[in-house]
Amino acid sequence: SRNITILGLESSCDDTAAAIVRTRDDAAPEILSSVVAGQTALHADYGGVVPEIAARAHTEKLDLCVEEALEDAGLSLRDLDAIAVTAGPGLIGGVLAGVMTAKGLSAATGLPLIGVNHLAGHALTPRLTGDADYPYLMLLVSGGHCQFLVAEGPETFRRLGGTIDDAPGEAFDKAARLLGLPQPGGPSVEREAAKGDAGRFRLPRPLLDRPGADLSFSGLKTALLRERDKLVAAQGGITKQDRADLCAAFQAAVVDVLAEKSRRALVDYLALNPPAPLFAVAGGVAANTAIRAALETVSANLGTAFIAPPLALCTDNAAMIAWAGIERFRAGHRDDMTLAARPRWPL
Ligand code: KG4
Ligand code: ZN
Repeated sequence: SRNITILGLESSCDDTAAAIVRTRDDAAPEILSSVVAGQTALHADYGGVVPEIAARAHTEKLDLCVEEALEDAGLSLRDLDAIAVTAGPGLIGGVLAGVMTAKGLSAATGLPLIGVNHLAGHALTPRLTGDADYPYLMLLVSGGHCQFLVAEGPETFRRLGGTIDDAPGEAFDKAARLLGLPQPGGPSVEREAAKGDAGRFRLPRPLLDRPGADLSFSGLKTALLRERDKLVAAQGGITKQDRADLCAAFQAAVVDVLAEKSRRALVDYLALNPPAPLFAVAGGVAANTAIRAALETVSANLGTAFIAPPLALCTDNAAMIAWAGIERFRAGHRDDMTLAARPRWPL
């Protein structure tokens, strides 16, 4: 059986990453190296990712990340079969930086170039970390995305629903900002929620009254703001306990919405009669213990296996891009120097 070894590049948001993944026809894929250079500190003063700063940092760091990924894997460019790169969706400056780097490597070595959809990278991760067979249901839940996808093949995704406004990670980040907690907001809010009483404030469960698996999170943030302002008006500020209780109420609302919408998406997916039903979650928000537990319960109630990849492969990384590249490579897909960077690229 033949080895396929692919270098993946990722630079669509605020992480610069390079990784090498190798596969054999019959064995589990192997992550030979995975380098991620984050930019949290660069954007800390701005309360969010600044596209120009991100693009410049990607341009500065991509070559180093590639060198490090090769070195960690003990390989040289000669040992590779192809270069895979995130070609969208994402911040255009960052995506361009990655695509230019990949084209340079491809031109210098003659290796084929493979453009990968960042969302496909997340959605195919269960096949990198475990033996997920098509079709499986995927909840992709991060700072920028929230959608239910049935993965039917490396390039075939059936969308069962998604957010109509904010992504949950974005909602966690905004909630943290409203309550004076540090970014990224998800971990801060989760930490506070553990000390709070989720029953003290009643926040809405947006869209649960409507059928289907579409979600909404922006109203939740507005409702949180209103509760905070009521406290400020009544007592001149909020106490530590108020803050913990607000975090607990907010997280409970997100958990309820994600759990009920997951249940509905799962019912739709099970109607396709998959031979080995599987529900998987990926994206930074999948790091939340309460959310993971709720999704696991929903799956168990419907007799479906559940997997959440290790955290480092849930958040943005290049191993998932290398892996998606391998799947496309196997399917015979090749790109050339006309490969474009796409800020928008729905699956
Ligand atoms: O996938 P990711 O690293 O980047 C993209 O958005 O593509 O996700 C980052 C998001 C942030 O919004 C962050 O607040 C959220 O994931 N997050 C969490 C937790 N850890 C990270 N949200 C809720 N609970 C967490 N423990
Ligand atoms: Zn992502």
